[in-house]
Amino acid sequence: MIKPSVLVTRRWPAAVEAQLAETYNATFNSADVPLAACEMRDAMKRFDAVLPTVTDKLGADVFEVTKPQAKIIGNYGVGYSHIDEASARDLGLTVTNTPDVLSECTADIAMTLMLMVARRAGEGEREVRDGRWTGWRPTHLVGTKVSGKTLGIIGFGRIGQEMAKRAHLGFGMKIVVQNRSQVASEVLDTYGAIQVDTVEELLPQCDFVSLHCPGGAANRHLMNSARLDLMKQDAFLINTARGEVIDEHALIQALMFGTIGGAALDVFDGEPRIAPDLVQCDNLVMLPHLGSATREAREAMGFRVLDNLEDFFSGRNPRDRVI
Ligand code: DGY
Repeated sequence: MIKPSVLVTRRWPAAVEAQLAETYNATFNSADVPLAACEMRDAMKRFDAVLPTVTDKLGADVFEVTKPQAKIIGNYGVGYSHIDEASARDLGLTVTNTPDVLSECTADIAMTLMLMVARRAGEGEREVRDGRWTGWRPTHLVGTKVSGKTLGIIGFGRIGQEMAKRAHLGFGMKIVVQNRSQVASEVLDTYGAIQVDTVEELLPQCDFVSLHCPGGAANRHLMNSARLDLMKQDAFLINTARGEVIDEHALIQALMFGTIGGAALDVFDGEPRIAPDLVQCDNLVMLPHLGSATREAREAMGFRVLDNLEDFFSGRNPRDRVI
């Protein structure tokens, strides 16, 4: 039997690449450099499956192919706002993602960021490494207590719920949730959470606000200057969702003028480019998109793509089909 051909656009964990090589006629990107749009378009013509990830921009131009060989895009990652949905649909492509397996690790990073910004861990680490630490004193790098405070979660899917679990059960935080659909009362009760209808209602109540909604056009600049103004003056904003969800210019103003307490970001608009003014903000913690970056999660994500491919090439509907 002829093995389907698959293109893997970036390096994946070795165990997953080995399995792909065994099961498919697989082509790997050993240089691990993102493909250009023309190379991605070429891949649509030449491979049965294209396996991109969040660093690949699959805009409408990539799908300008009359007769694509590709029938499935097996995305490595849960977010798929980098894939032009309308064009993929027009070409009749199946698109899958990798939910569940990274929820815990992404929530762990959101907790890491929340604790780091509240307790000024980034500032402290920079001070120690720069040789600027002069010793303990009662007024040194005094931060904000996290335990018992109110956490607002925008987007209450799997990752949002993992965040609530950690914050409520581990840190006794009160949880306020905003989500586009009604969350089942049993789910809210598990985390002692209350759901509000709008972001405007949530923001003024919270000491911490963590973003867990999808990216893409619908949520672009969801946190704009009007909404940042609704946050408490000492509240903190955490983003492990997508960079475009925050208007970074408005965030820089809020951080520089102290209209919020601080922010902690794992994702950036136009990453890996970082707006130079962000780097000037001391009350900001920044990580390089590490949400799912554990050995366990990254391998599980790869094997989840393999499961989806197996379903697809066996004529079944892949369980993680999003388009
Ligand atoms: C995703 O999966 O969408 C993350 O951003 C990368 O793990």
